[in-house]
Amino acid sequence: MTWDELEESCKNCTKCELHKTRTTCVFGCGSRTAKLMFVGEAPGEKEDLSGIPFVGVAGKMFDKFLFAVGIDREEVYIANMLKCRPPNNRDPSVEEQDMCIEYLREQVRLIKPKLIVCLGRISAMRLIKPDFKITSEHGQWIEKGGFKMCAVYHPSLLLRDARKKEDMLIDMKNVKAKLDAEEKNASV
Ligand code: URA
Repeated sequence: MTWDELEESCKNCTKCELHKTRTTCVFGCGSRTAKLMFVGEAPGEKEDLSGIPFVGVAGKMFDKFLFAVGIDREEVYIANMLKCRPPNNRDPSVEEQDMCIEYLREQVRLIKPKLIVCLGRISAMRLIKPDFKITSEHGQWIEKGGFKMCAVYHPSLLLRDARKKEDMLIDMKNVKAKLDAEEKNASV
């Protein structure tokens, strides 16, 4: 499938009920040749209105960490587990994730990132392992399906619990170090 075909089918998707309440499908943004891909949960209100992931308050928090560790938003790819906003920002159901995951899989196939970083426990439980514990396992790297993967705290959690920002900074510095190592590998 090409990017255009994928984006088109995602925008016209009616596989689950969320298409009835969405303003727009939030496909993903950033570099389609990125070595690093972030995967969040689902669009919120601002994302549903703009069609761009992580542009609301949680997005602004995420941007601060990207900036702090020197990762350019344009050089990475940012997507969500779900492409449509769940009403009232409730957690995505397993059924919704099942219906939507093929779009994410196809994005990963097209991008072929080296590193995949889950933003929060919902994507970590789906992409890393079902019993993933974000409090004790954030920042721990594993290899799965040819990718290096880890999860960091969801930026919206940092808005509710500022004490977690310290750990987030450590994890994001580590993400940046891994990215630098991948770039170095690619250039030799
Ligand atoms: N939270 C997410 O998980 N994704 C977004 O795009 C915005 C908020």
